Amino acid sequence: MKILLINGPNLQLLGYREPGIYGDDTLEAITSRLRELAAELGCELIDFQSNYEGAIVDRIGETVAEGVSGIVLNPAAYTHTSVAIRDAIAAVKIPTVEVHLSNVHAREEFRRHSFIAPVCIGVVAGFGADSYELAFRGLYSHLRKQTKNKNH
Ligand code: DQA
Repeated sequence: MKILLINGPNLQLLGYREPGIYGDDTLEAITSRLRELAAELGCELIDFQSNYEGAIVDRIGETVAEGVSGIVLNPAAYTHTSVAIRDAIAAVKIPTVEVHLSNVHAREEFRRHSFIAPVCIGVVAGFGADSYELAFRGLYSHLRKQTKNKNH
């Protein structure tokens, strides 16, 4: 089972960027922990980070031909602005979990609205780097149930 991890703008700066909000872990550290978890569960983790909305839209579009089963997506600031990323998720119909390190609902008003959440199977926010692991486990469990239901 292939799972794609997508991180949006400024997340390449994790560890350095506002550590009081986003924590001390680098994106590399978070990704490598997630890769270990994926391997334990018998999955392959593919990771992608971009600061460009169009590049993220392109990457989502590629998932169909690649046979990706699910997506863990931190759209970062594009969460609150991007109809294009939302439409890409809706187009590929691949189960996606939206993830945030911070609790977006406890911050500025503009972070409370997500264009992406309505096309996702779930949202995890506020657990720092652990949000990624929780999102991955939620997605994995959803995909397992989906496969079982198809086979019965
Ligand atoms: C974020 C929350 C967004 O509002 C913000 O623009 C980010 C990071 C998070 O992981 O907490 O860049 O997605």
